[in-house]
Order: sequence, then C-alpha cells, then structure tokens
Amino acid sequence: MAFEHLQLKQRGRAEIDFMLSTFLGSSTVRESAEQAVQSAIEELAGSIEALPENLDERNSQLESFLYNVRSFRVQQLLGEWYSRNHGAAAVRAFEEVQAKLQIELDQLSSGKTTLETFPDFQAPDYWRDVDFHRTEGGWDGHPYMGFVHGEIVHRKMVDSLFPGGIFKQRRQVAALAKQDHYDNILDMGCSTGHFTKALAETYPNASITGTDLSLKTLEHAQRVGNAHGYSWRLLQRAAEDTKLAHDCFDLVTSYILLHEMPASAIAAVFAESFRVLKPGGEILMSDVSRYTDLNKLEQWRADRGAMYGGEPHWRASASLDLSKIAKDAGFIKVNAGGVQGAKYPYVVQAIKPHEVGNR
Ligand SMILES: C[S@@+](CC[C@H](N)C(=O)[O-])C[C@H]1O[C@@H](n2cnc3c(N)ncnc32)[C@H](O)[C@@H]1O
Repeated sequence: MAFEHLQLKQRGRAEIDFMLSTFLGSSTVRESAEQAVQSAIEELAGSIEALPENLDERNSQLESFLYNVRSFRVQQLLGEWYSRNHGAAAVRAFEEVQAKLQIELDQLSSGKTTLETFPDFQAPDYWRDVDFHRTEGGWDGHPYMGFVHGEIVHRKMVDSLFPGGIFKQRRQVAALAKQDHYDNILDMGCSTGHFTKALAETYPNASITGTDLSLKTLEHAQRVGNAHGYSWRLLQRAAEDTKLAHDCFDLVTSYILLHEMPASAIAAVFAESFRVLKPGGEILMSDVSRYTDLNKLEQWRADRGAMYGGEPHWRASASLDLSKIAKDAGFIKVNAGGVQGAKYPYVVQAIKPHEVGNR
C-alpha cells in the first residue's frame, strides 16, 4: 500500500492539469515578460550590478517599471492565481477520493512507524496560524493536510514544475552524508516524510526519528512510513527544542526547513543539533539558495517568489550565513554550498568535535 500511484477523479485531475498547463503553456508570456525585465534593468540602472543595493528599493523600482508592461502583468496574474488557488484545488481533489481511500488511511495510521504527541506541546508564534504557501490554515489547515500536501501538492503539482523533480533531489542530498552507515538519524522538520524516506532508502539500517510542529504532516509521514514498512519514530516537537536526550544521534538532517523559520530559531536549531549529536556526529542541513550567492536580479526573483508564495521568513532566513551559525554552535569542519555547482539546494555539512567543552 502506497500512495505514489494515487488516482484522482476526473474533475480533480482536470482542475490540477488545467492549473499546471496554464503555467507551463504560458512560455510566450514569460519570454515576453523576461524581455521587459531586461529592458527595465537597462533603463533603470544599465546593468544588474548597478541596480539599487537595498532590496526593497530595488523591488519597488523594478515593480513600478514593470507594472505597465502587459506581459509582465499577465505573468504576475497567473502566478497569483496559481499561488492563491493551488492548495484549495488540491483539497477539492482529495475530498473527491477520500471515501475510497479512508480504509487505507486508517490502516496506515498504526504500524511500525509511531507518532508521539505531547499535552505540553505548543507551536511557536512564528508558525502558528500562518498560511504558509498561501494554503488556508497553513500546514494544519485541513484534517488531511499532510496527505493533500505530500501526495497532491508535492507529487502531482510541484514535482512536475520543478526541474529534475523534487524526489530525486532529496535522494541526492541524502547521499551527501559522509558515512555509508548511521545508527541513529534525526530528521528535523520532516513534514510528510519525503526526505525521511530518502534517508531510509540511503541508510536502510539506521533508526530514524522525525520531528515537526505540524500534526497533520506528521500523521501523513506516519502513513508513508507504515506504507513502506519503516519503523520511524515521529514526534510533534520543535526542531529547536526536541527534548530528546543529549549525544544520541550520529546524523542530524533538515531538508528545506530553515527558510520557514526566523533567524533566532535557526541558530537554536543548530545549537539543538549539536546537543543531541554524539561527539563525532554530523549535520546535513539543506535549504534554499543564499542571497549572497545570487546576483541582484536573482535576489529580486527569489524575494518576489517568496512574497507571493506565502513564505514570510524566507528573506531573513536566506540572508543568513549558515556556516557562521554552525561554527558559533560549536561545529567544526563546516562545509557549505550548492550541490553539483547549482545554488539550490544549499547544503551545510559539519561535525561535532569529539572533545566538547562544558555545555
Ligand atoms: C517545506 S517543509 C519540509 C519538507 C520536508 N523535510 C520534505 O522533505 O518534504 C517544512 C516543514 O517544517 C516544519 N517546521 C517549521 N518550523 C519548524 C520547527 N521549528 N520545528 C519543526 N518543524 C518545523 C513545517 O511544519 C513543515 O512541515
């Protein structure tokens, strides 16, 4: 039992296909909008490098220029329509097939993969009630939001829009860890378990623990774990405060968690990773491109995408020097950069030294 080959009903499938085709089929509009962007740079500054240093000023100059360009407005409208509606379209598609799936959904909620929740648990303010990705209610906005995100938004929408696919990329990143084998892995911000599964496939003998704030995504990760016969231990805990024992993991990972957190929480995540790792243990943290690695135009595109895509913490998070944060947390042999010459995903690897001073 697994959901990889989920069949939607004709109406839901058609709605999703229409959204994707509208985006993919608008290449002429996008090309024309891109020409307008190039003209804007030429007219406003003469070159990308000469655009304003200040990102808000840059955004405002480019937006004012492009506001009157019809192709740019159409492209913006399509993006806005997709961002605003994709979550609701996925929910509708799910609700049409829910009755047919219900027995399977219930059966997969118990098995070797366990989910622990805690009466004292409270999600932090920067996460609670935020409509991440402009999905109403955010990560927990529907009783089956984990399924909706993991199996419909990610598998049927994002995967086909993302160059190379989102699952292959997770397997590539999982394989970057330095050892061939780990005993205990902690995957922070595991959500519906996509990266957790890549870890389980890459390190089949490891015991894997996953944490997330979102109960609905964890419930789906549990189904995914059970569907594939894994024995994951899933916990509803904040990455920066897992309440797990000191020195118990030999690898701590996160995959596109950090851009959903404010800067202070990110520093706390590295400190928490250090605390729960055994001496000699490793981190493998991957996230979105650093703004310092992007030119001024790429920064503008990333920033706009984040703003329209419902990513309130992206800019502050992507502006952080994660190597420095890792070193400040006590890690050594810090190595950070894009994978295979690309700027995304940006991966930080480091080691907890064997000799650690007083904690
Ligand atoms: C983009 S998803 C992560 C994707 C996932 N790792 C994968 O491979 O698909 C971000 C997740 O981080 C979770 N999250 C955000 N802040 C968190 C925190 N402080 N602690 C744990 N999880 C957090 C969100 O609830 C969400 O499920």
